[in-house]
Amino acid sequence: MTGPTPDVVVAGGGLIGLSLAWRAAQRGLSVTVVDDAPGNGASAAAAGMLAPVTEAGYGEDALLRLGLASLARWPTFAAELEQASGLPVGLRTAGTLVVGFDDDDMRELDALHAFQQELGLNAERLTPRAARRHEPSLTPRVRGGLLVTGDHSVDGRAVHTALLAAAASAGVQLVSGRVDAVLVDGGRATGLQLAGGGTVPAGTVVLALGAHSAALPGVPPLPVRPVKGQILRLAGAAGLLDGTVRALVRGRRVYLVPYAGNRLIVGATTEDRGFDATVTAGGVHDLLHDAIDVVPGVTELELVEALARWRPGTADNAPLLGPSRLPGLVLATGHHRNGVLLTPVTSEVLAELLATGRLPELAAPFTSDRFEQEMPCR
Ligand code: GLY
Repeated sequence: MTGPTPDVVVAGGGLIGLSLAWRAAQRGLSVTVVDDAPGNGASAAAAGMLAPVTEAGYGEDALLRLGLASLARWPTFAAELEQASGLPVGLRTAGTLVVGFDDDDMRELDALHAFQQELGLNAERLTPRAARRHEPSLTPRVRGGLLVTGDHSVDGRAVHTALLAAAASAGVQLVSGRVDAVLVDGGRATGLQLAGGGTVPAGTVVLALGAHSAALPGVPPLPVRPVKGQILRLAGAAGLLDGTVRALVRGRRVYLVPYAGNRLIVGATTEDRGFDATVTAGGVHDLLHDAIDVVPGVTELELVEALARWRPGTADNAPLLGPSRLPGLVLATGHHRNGVLLTPVTSEVLAELLATGRLPELAAPFTSDRFEQEMPCR
């Protein structure tokens, strides 16, 4: 690349990379983002759930706090992004209803509710009748529900499109190219090597390549692995659901997320199959079967897309944020099931780090040194 060396180069133009590039540019930094297909990774498959409470897992208190902090930022983030881009991002604030079918599902729902109450989270147990009053298209066979009015959703692809526009108008340069390596000179990251021979030198390199983050030459060992998810998009769902419905269907999990007026996302499988992008008959069958069990009206919808992508999984399901053990290389990866939710808080803490050199307290539990024992030096 010719021209002045940017302050920051970001490897990866998904939701995380673009949002932090936008925020860093707003702080006065010159920023370049490199991606050969921006938004075609996990961002393309994300359902857009902003669901720290219904995704909360036992022992993941720090992640829950980060998720709640990011959820609280979403309304302002969405409004600013819509303002900066002139594009809608589809924030829905109709809440999330979790339902179950058999005794085991109901026991799990009760355990989830007890856990949420212990943490002081807002969730209300509903009778089957009340659940169906809340979402009338639910099957009468649901045995009960758990209503989380604070867990919302956004149209992930619309957010990405808006971020492309907002980042460009803030002065972010987007370079189309595949990142082949992080350049290292004198024990410090100095830029990116692109496929085909070009380089992008920069003052600081940010790694935001999602599931691909760990495989990049020049990057110290990182505990990030691909966790495959297959997801379906359907059309013709106008008025079918008000908010997100998550279900335990005799032990199997499915979620249905309405977006963009008449669209519905049904997701998602969770598979440890490396970088396998196959959409399988079994995956599509299970998702449709379970979605139709929960909302029989799904059977009438048009299936418009089936897609497989990879969540960037980590051992504790939480992201890697902030400095790495390689000076000059900053991490914004490993967001696993929560990339869309964590976009506002990630972009904020990363922009603060890039602009001031200080990582905000909120992000301190998520630095990569928590895995130092487990990751050998390369
Ligand atoms: N956040 C939903 C999923 O990863 O499937």
